[in-house]
Amino acid sequence: MTHARVVGTGSYLPSGLLTNADLEKLVDTTDQWIVERTGIRERHVAAQGELTSDLAAHAARRALDAAGVVPASVDLIVVATTTPDRVFPGTACIVQAKLGIANACAAFDIQAVCSGFIYALATATNFIKARQARTALVIGAETLTRITDYGDRGNCILWGDGAGAVVLAASDAPGVISTHLHADGRYEALLYTDGGPSSGSPDAGPKVRMQGNAVFKMAVNTLDAIVDETLAANGLAKTDVDWLVPHQANIRIIQATAKKLGMGMERVVLTVDRHGNTSAASIPLALDTAVRDGRIRPGQTLLMEAFGGGFTWGSALVRY
Ligand code: COA
Repeated sequence: MTHARVVGTGSYLPSGLLTNADLEKLVDTTDQWIVERTGIRERHVAAQGELTSDLAAHAARRALDAAGVVPASVDLIVVATTTPDRVFPGTACIVQAKLGIANACAAFDIQAVCSGFIYALATATNFIKARQARTALVIGAETLTRITDYGDRGNCILWGDGAGAVVLAASDAPGVISTHLHADGRYEALLYTDGGPSSGSPDAGPKVRMQGNAVFKMAVNTLDAIVDETLAANGLAKTDVDWLVPHQANIRIIQATAKKLGMGMERVVLTVDRHGNTSAASIPLALDTAVRDGRIRPGQTLLMEAFGGGFTWGSALVRY
């Protein structure tokens, strides 16, 4: 049987910073409130003219370097993003060109908001298992600050920009062990953007709208359930998981999932304090951080999970 293994990770954060002190000047909030309710202290912000595809290409190059894979060997590119450069072409095609990949490999975007990376990882894994690809670039990249309303203190404190990428390669040994994807479109009204190409956008462009409290409760309950689903599907005990690599939305949501797993926070990869919520980029950003600083080591078992607009949610159990 062919498996899909993570053979390289990379990430990229734009150099601009937006701190809680900066937000105190924009809306009626305080550093203390933001830290207590979200765990976030600062986020990165893309420079003017720096696009989602630029962030994605930087992260992808780093992942390819780490994997020792030349761009020409890539035969599938999947980019998870909610903030594409344009309506079309797909950001994955733009990234393909920026990486100089001229082998006509498949390249497409996935839109599952904050669960986008898990959806993209599942998709690429299934391409490899079906032997329709051997070397895939899976990227989560966002410029969320471009769709943030900095007049809405209820959610502008959350979002940040960044990108993370993994190289997945066909292998005889397991890598991505299982993926679990879900969605429930009935919750659109709790988390959405006001407008888009089909419904018409306000002059300032679509912005994120959210009922934070309701989203929070749904996220905790749903992630609780997907932890059970993932462990049961693989006949694993909680103690079999070495690292939780969660979507970085809010430290309190992450703490609730860690508690569910009976894990101390020392086994949870946390970047939310420095990155904020980078939507589809947050899991590969966290993964790359912990791979590069040596915490995540070959052979360890990782549980990745995410929840986001749609609602969408999902998990991946990965032998690194
Ligand atoms: N600074 C200070 N006060 C704020 C504030 C801010 N930035 N944002 C909201 N408040 C106020 C509210 O106006 C409200 O005041 P009131 O009681 O006088 O009406 C009070 O704080 C509580 O609001 P509430 O929305 O219940 O706060 P909360 O504890 O739920 O925290 C979030 C708000 C957004 C931090 C939290 O709901 C959250 O993180 N939700 C999940 C969001 C998420 O992860 N979304 C992405 C999913 S991928």
